[in-house]
Amino acid sequence: MTIPNASAEIYTFPTKAAVGEELCRQIVTICQEAIQQRGVFTVAMSGGSLPALLSNLPQTFKNQGIDPQYSKWHVLLADERGVPETHTDSNLLALQKSFLSLSGVSIPSKNIYGINKMSLCESMQAVALDYQTKLLSVLPKSGGLLDLALLGMGEDGHTCSLFPNHPLLQQRQVHVAPIEDSPKPPPHRITLTFRALEQTRQVIFCATGEAKSPILAQIVQKAHRTNNNNDGSPSPLITAEILAAYPCGMVRPQDRLVYIVDEDAMKQVPVATAEV
Ligand code: 6PG
Repeated sequence: MTIPNASAEIYTFPTKAAVGEELCRQIVTICQEAIQQRGVFTVAMSGGSLPALLSNLPQTFKNQGIDPQYSKWHVLLADERGVPETHTDSNLLALQKSFLSLSGVSIPSKNIYGINKMSLCESMQAVALDYQTKLLSVLPKSGGLLDLALLGMGEDGHTCSLFPNHPLLQQRQVHVAPIEDSPKPPPHRITLTFRALEQTRQVIFCATGEAKSPILAQIVQKAHRTNNNNDGSPSPLITAEILAAYPCGMVRPQDRLVYIVDEDAMKQVPVATAEV
């Protein structure tokens, strides 16, 4: 199956902290719109370096004078390792530490969807099936599509637990799949499939550090800095075509694809600047 190029917005910042700030600003906007339009905010979140970028989210809502309306949130996992949520490898635990358990973050625990402990004793297949039931019960709440997926990208080009050249890349039958041979430890995981990621309105990738640069350079083509700020400093916004050269480049949301990255990650990506 050939995946066409997609247009993306790429926001570049000098530091990881600035990447986190921009991510939080964008989440505030998307959340507010989703709740205004459909009455809920449905979001899938990754593990890896992403949870730490969310720690300023409550403060960002406060600074902007916007009520997060946490009772209307539904939080899913983009992928999860095959461990209980108390284990240090758990993505849910990482999200709890950085955001979900922060004081004032009052998302009802029934709206935070972790993997099922009982199925974990059975098989990853059972865990994936159970998680798919959860996902499919959430989707109709926000009009059949997830409002937002927050994704990372590995140095090998994986996203969620969708790894380069893995048979799961062809999996279009199910929304959630087990993986027993993840090259990134631990090997047993579940992951949203491309079928689920396609049922998402907006996707934001975050990538920081020079190690991400070779992969970004392979998926980001025709990159243009489109406008200048009034003060003459370069705009953080670059528009680009994304190629499906790696799993992270294969994600095609319905409405909007965004990358928020630091300058180290962009080092090897050629960007043309248009004078305004
Ligand atoms: C996981 C993550 C995974 C992550 C990427 C990027 O369970 O390992 O959910 O998909 O997003 O591996 O990780 P970094 O952001 O740490 O590079």
